[in-house]
Amino acid sequence: MQVGPGDEVIVPPYTFVATINVVLLLHALPIFVDTDRATFQIDANKIEAAITERTRAIIPVHLGGNVADLDTILAVAKKHTLPVVEDACQSHLAEWRGKPAGSHGDTGCFSFQVTKNLSSGEGGALTTNREDLMGRAYSFHTNGRPWKGAGGFSYVHGGNNVRMTEFQGALLREQLTRLDAQSRVREENAAHLTQRLQAIPGLRPAEQYEGCTRNAYHLYMFRYDPQAFSGLSRDRFLEALRAEGVPCSSGYSPLNEQPFLKDALYSRGSLQVYGKERIDQYFEAALPENNALCGEGVWFTQPMFLGPRSDMDDIANAIEKIHENAQALVA
Ligand SMILES: Cc1ncc(COP(=O)(O)O)c(C=O)c1O
Repeated sequence: MQVGPGDEVIVPPYTFVATINVVLLLHALPIFVDTDRATFQIDANKIEAAITERTRAIIPVHLGGNVADLDTILAVAKKHTLPVVEDACQSHLAEWRGKPAGSHGDTGCFSFQVTKNLSSGEGGALTTNREDLMGRAYSFHTNGRPWKGAGGFSYVHGGNNVRMTEFQGALLREQLTRLDAQSRVREENAAHLTQRLQAIPGLRPAEQYEGCTRNAYHLYMFRYDPQAFSGLSRDRFLEALRAEGVPCSSGYSPLNEQPFLKDALYSRGSLQVYGKERIDQYFEAALPENNALCGEGVWFTQPMFLGPRSDMDDIANAIEKIHENAQALVA
């Protein structure tokens, strides 16, 4: 797997910016495939149409602890002989057909950044069964020094120092002992909240694909329909929810519309590689489903799901209260 200037990598637009930054850092083009609003994941059925002779990899993100449609993604990757890099940064212990997210593709990437379900403040891990990738990744993270064989001051790849400290390792080992139990608590709480929210009109919790056998609930995500709340805008809904003591956010905004992307792709180097016409075309591509989702999504974060079940009732009661008083809140 080699990605460089002129290459394309398929990514979802509903993700944290790091997913595409890695592509831009290699001077390749992140090609966005629209979102499946029902699940908040990449619409796997639209990936094949985005593949060109320049495509070098597919990066599905298992967003929010949920799992992208791996059956479809792996099949299309196999058909086109493309590697799959699973961005499992938000989905520690999530599963697809009983097998952990991050273990299905050529590599899986995990984040231990401070908001994650498993955290050492900062840090991360890469998983792979491929010896060649393991060696390259090891070298890259330690200034290009070889994984096996010659030690000393020999360098086999370009690299950097992105080594984790032992202190962080110790934190992670301790947290690993309780990750599974914590994950179960999140699952049980999320199931209870879903049951409560289903009784309130205008709220659609993120669905899971049939193959997702475990959701890590890094985020609890749902879609909000103002029509069912007397026209109360999402922003006002979020404000009211915060006033009730429930932390919440509107989630991602359209990644393809971020000004930095234009800066990067209209930069001198990028125009030399791709030409202006191609970059103009790039920015013409529409992502209607993702835009709609960015306007209707609501998120709760994982620590909220580690408390007692009564916390879920408090959240649902707060939303019910807003629903009942929506007309007054609009006025
Ligand atoms: C989906 C996703 N991908 C990648 C990353 C990057 O991880 P890190 O911050 O550990 O570099 C994050 C989180 O930060 C993320 O949420």
